[in-house]
Amino acid sequence: MALKRINPTKTKAWKKLQAHYDQIKNDHMKDWFINDANRANRFTIKWDDFFVDYSKNRINQTTIDLFLELADEVDLKDAINKYFSGDKINETEQRAVLHTALRAPESVEVFVNGENIIPRIHKTRHQIKSFTNKVVNGEHKGFSGKPITDIVNIGIGGSDLGSAMVVNALEFYKNHLSTHFVSNVDGDHVNEILKKLNPETTLFVIVSKTFTTQETLSNANTIRKWFLQSTNEKSVSKHFVAVSTNIEKVKEFGISQENIFPVWDWVGGRFSLWSAVGLSISLSIGYDNFSALLSGAHKMDEHFKNELFQSNIPIISAFLSIWYNNFFEAESEAIIPYSQYLNQFATYLQQVFMESNGKTIMRNGDIVSFQTGNIIWGEPGTNSQHTFFQLLHQGTKLIPTDFIGFKESLNGNIDHHDKLVSNFIAQTEALLNGKSEQEVVKELKYSKLSNDNQKKLVPFKVFNGNKPTTTIFINKLTPESLGKLIAMYEHKIFVQGVIWNIFSYDQFGVELGKQLAKNILKEFNSALNTPHDSSTKNLVTYYKNKS
Ligand code: F6P
Repeated sequence: MALKRINPTKTKAWKKLQAHYDQIKNDHMKDWFINDANRANRFTIKWDDFFVDYSKNRINQTTIDLFLELADEVDLKDAINKYFSGDKINETEQRAVLHTALRAPESVEVFVNGENIIPRIHKTRHQIKSFTNKVVNGEHKGFSGKPITDIVNIGIGGSDLGSAMVVNALEFYKNHLSTHFVSNVDGDHVNEILKKLNPETTLFVIVSKTFTTQETLSNANTIRKWFLQSTNEKSVSKHFVAVSTNIEKVKEFGISQENIFPVWDWVGGRFSLWSAVGLSISLSIGYDNFSALLSGAHKMDEHFKNELFQSNIPIISAFLSIWYNNFFEAESEAIIPYSQYLNQFATYLQQVFMESNGKTIMRNGDIVSFQTGNIIWGEPGTNSQHTFFQLLHQGTKLIPTDFIGFKESLNGNIDHHDKLVSNFIAQTEALLNGKSEQEVVKELKYSKLSNDNQKKLVPFKVFNGNKPTTTIFINKLTPESLGKLIAMYEHKIFVQGVIWNIFSYDQFGVELGKQLAKNILKEFNSALNTPHDSSTKNLVTYYKNKS
């Protein structure tokens, strides 16, 4: 059954939220903390190894209550049931959206077109497990009889970013295999990686749901040619495996049936790291860790499905996003992990959020009259404190920020970890409280500056504060906690899409550029003259005229 079509701005709750916003928009959170000793506890969710403090947001209990009313009016509960039970909620592509089924235990049943898909998923998980074990323990040999030392994931977008981010994030847990990712059609990417590789000991994992993606096929063909310079066609089967829905095309490439790992059309590319698309993760950290990643995501699925909305992490997080995006008119959101291991996390989330909710058409086909998908960006702390944090603190833009941190350090360096975590906490305190004029005046009194110079400096040193942050404090970065964190953001995206009344699971917006690039490529290699605007025409001619 279809998701409901309810324009959120026409609901009673939205109107009340607007009036409520007008009432509290100029309030300073600092005063709320002074007046309510219980504010931090009231707006903290403790769940498993997660401690989510959202009290440093420009909300009060009425804000949350009104969002709960909004969730009722748009029937979020019904949408969640449809999401988990395999309804074709990706209506424009007539597909179910079942990345949650990929991490469900064998005991559950989820039906797509009358078939319980769970046995298929677990069969593939066994295939991943047994292949991983053979490669990791050296049983799977290359063409010259040597064990595999290097894995190369060839894919792009959802067939690259999730695996690349997780492999990087879980580097602490990785085995002896070196894992590389080739994605860009820029030949410099593949060539730099090939320089590091020995064809005798490298396994290539071609990941492409469609097996038609220009970048992936170009890179795969270049790599295949490079590989065949050292050996013959017979060796391909020992060194190339593929993950795809397009079995025919994979076979045409020369990969045999036993080296193909299936993925299904009810798994969206950007939500696919839990499927065989994550084979490189399993190879890099071992199947047990891969399985723990999936269990973590499943725990978050259960929390999202069963927890009351008012203490439901992805739901509250989506409410906050909509609050800032649609009422405060914030354009972007920053995600700052205080862990160097998560240095690819924001890049990964950019695809998941922006490819999902970067939409202008509501589910009934009308154009939206309100803002949808927010711009996601971020870099790890403390590095980012020395780059863009100035703008967060004293710029003119309101940028709600998620701070993600861990209580335990993986490598056990307490001195560094204490410093890291003190910064993690201090930044949210500074963004909340700022620094008042009186405080600045008092501080400057102790400086060697003349009174006149002190006075001049005051306005530049004032921090207004009142900048919203949400702190996600997790015990430790493990495969399981990372699985929970990723799933949390996946569900947040879903809730946003439901409330905004858009379809979050198609991505037609990426097609046009791909089509035009194909036409332009033809022009480069022929006398063909396709009509273009004058700018595009000049650029094509400029490139064709290179010496
Ligand atoms: O760029 C759009 C996109 O379709 C993504 O959604 C997808 O993750 C990526 O391309 C790769 O697609 P495929 O797995 O089919 O190669």
